[in-house]
Amino acid sequence: MYAKIKQTDENKAKYNQLLAAKSLYMIYKGRAELASVVALKSVSLDINYGDFIAIVGPSGSGKSTFLKILGGLMRPTAGSLHFEGVDVTKTPEEELTSLRREKIGFVFQEGNLLPDLTAFDNVNQSMALNGISYTYRKKRTLELLDLMGVLHRKNQLANRLSGGEKQRVAIARAMANNPRLIIADEPTGNVDFKTSVRLLELFKQLNRDTGMAFLIATHSSHVAGYADRSVELRDGLMLGEHAKGIDLSELDASRMVIMDADNRITLPANVLQQLEGIGSLWNVDVQENNQILLTPLQDLSELPSMSEEQVRDCPVCGVENPITNKLCRSCGASF
Ligand SMILES: Nc1ncnc2c1ncn2[C@@H]1O[C@H](COP(=O)(O)OP(=O)(O)OP(=O)(O)O)[C@@H](O)[C@H]1O
Ligand SMILES: [Mg+2]
Repeated sequence: MYAKIKQTDENKAKYNQLLAAKSLYMIYKGRAELASVVALKSVSLDINYGDFIAIVGPSGSGKSTFLKILGGLMRPTAGSLHFEGVDVTKTPEEELTSLRREKIGFVFQEGNLLPDLTAFDNVNQSMALNGISYTYRKKRTLELLDLMGVLHRKNQLANRLSGGEKQRVAIARAMANNPRLIIADEPTGNVDFKTSVRLLELFKQLNRDTGMAFLIATHSSHVAGYADRSVELRDGLMLGEHAKGIDLSELDASRMVIMDADNRITLPANVLQQLEGIGSLWNVDVQENNQILLTPLQDLSELPSMSEEQVRDCPVCGVENPITNKLCRSCGASF
């Protein structure tokens, strides 16, 4: 019943990635006495056609923020975002709205339905703006509601549906336009385990049969287990990536750390704990076998000395730095 996404092969040949996000920053400006929050710090991600990716990380790590930006619902404070070659950060609002409508389907934990419309109208309406005939829309709406097991609730107003029913109608709606990408934020948050298995199997089937890519934020190992790769966020930083078969309670075991677009590697908490705290000094050596060796420096006298004219003292910690350094080699303060 699902037509293959039109032109996918053509687009695949034309664009390298479905979506390319580079060095995204998101700062929520605080009002009055509230401090600003840096919710994303130089996060980059390439999404290919047909990917099935999970975004994992603790509460407040930036998952929802990241999804909203990738889906064009919110503009990043800095960074670039290309969807099939189009720079979404510079696209006028009107064009962005039609790109979202035609190419991206959204599913949020709370269901994001229009409360005063019926389940049928919520699904049907999402196709109306794309110029699809009423006869086809009606047929497809009924098929999708049936597929999601909520056909018997088609005439119920959205605000009278249970959490799980809302979720299923929202998924039917997200799939209606055969988008290239489905972005789902905790899609199984409101449904029981059995329904969650059905939804994920359905996502997987759609992914295989139509090439629709999926990007899912989740706290659940079960959901992440369906993904081909998982991206891990912590405190707005991309900490690492995990291949298939991720176990969220044992992230250290499967993590591959990533260098970000600013050439930084964020070390995982368990490694940082062994590095003896803020301000400790380390010598870094790259070994012949490409392994990186960190050797602790006991005191500042171990720092290689520099001739006077090439150095200046850091105004924050007092350590000598080469005149060319933009950041202090000891405390990281900028000059
Ligand atoms: N509209 C907003 N205004 C100000 N700060 C916000 C806003 N939305 C999110 N934040 C802050 O940005 C950070 C990231 O939030 P986000 O909702 O992206 O995290 P999350 O990983 O989705 O968390 P959860 O797992 O609880 O859903 C948090 O510190 C949060 O408080
Ligand atoms: Mg969230």
